Amino acid sequence: MIIRDMISEDIPELAGLMATTSTWIRYGTTLESASNTLQSLLEQAKNPDACECIVAENDGEAVGFIVLQHGAMFGMSSYVKLVGVRQDTRGQGCGSMLMEAAEHSALSRGPNVFLLTSDFNQQAIRFYENLGYQRVGAIKDYVVSGIDEILYRKTRGPLRT
Ligand SMILES: CC(C)(COP(=O)(O)OP(=O)(O)OC[C@H]1O[C@@H](n2cnc3c(N)ncnc32)[C@H](O)[C@@H]1OP(=O)(O)O)[C@@H](O)C(=O)NCCC(=O)NCCS
Repeated sequence: MIIRDMISEDIPELAGLMATTSTWIRYGTTLESASNTLQSLLEQAKNPDACECIVAENDGEAVGFIVLQHGAMFGMSSYVKLVGVRQDTRGQGCGSMLMEAAEHSALSRGPNVFLLTSDFNQQAIRFYENLGYQRVGAIKDYVVSGIDEILYRKTRGPLRT
């Protein structure tokens, strides 16, 4: 498994991953909307101080990805916007490798990393808590009605010492 920057050729495969993942389907994600989202994020990643799109590649195929935005939480901290691993590759450490790559970059810029996860996504909640993320709280009906977004934070300390 190698970790590398995302390129536009990865988008069809990764949009397919998103459009077939139950978490994103509940938010109305389609192949087209996923493709548009990834294209837009890849455009933002032309400035790596704003956004990074990272891919896990196995046997020449993109099997997972993570998108990190800098200065995105209250304009002060990095935020993991998206992370996903292909169904047949889950549970083999790929998601953890992607998170490690993102955190390495985020924590070199500041002491906090934030992310949101859906209240129903127990697998992701366990995954993040195992990685040391602490629950900040629930944001009710934030993205769609009927789903709370749970804010998580990993911290090395306050912004100012
Ligand atoms: C959440 C997600 C990214 C995790 O990716 P992953 O590649 O399965 O993550 P890992 O393999 O690193 O860790 C997952 C589990 O496998 C275990 N694991 C890690 N390395 C392992 C290995 N080499 N062999 C077997 N199991 C392993 C971990 O302990 C972890 O256990 P847990 O289920 O108790 O948390 C993945 O499940 C996913 O894509 N979900 C759908 C999309 C989604 O919900 N994204 C998050 C919200 S945006």
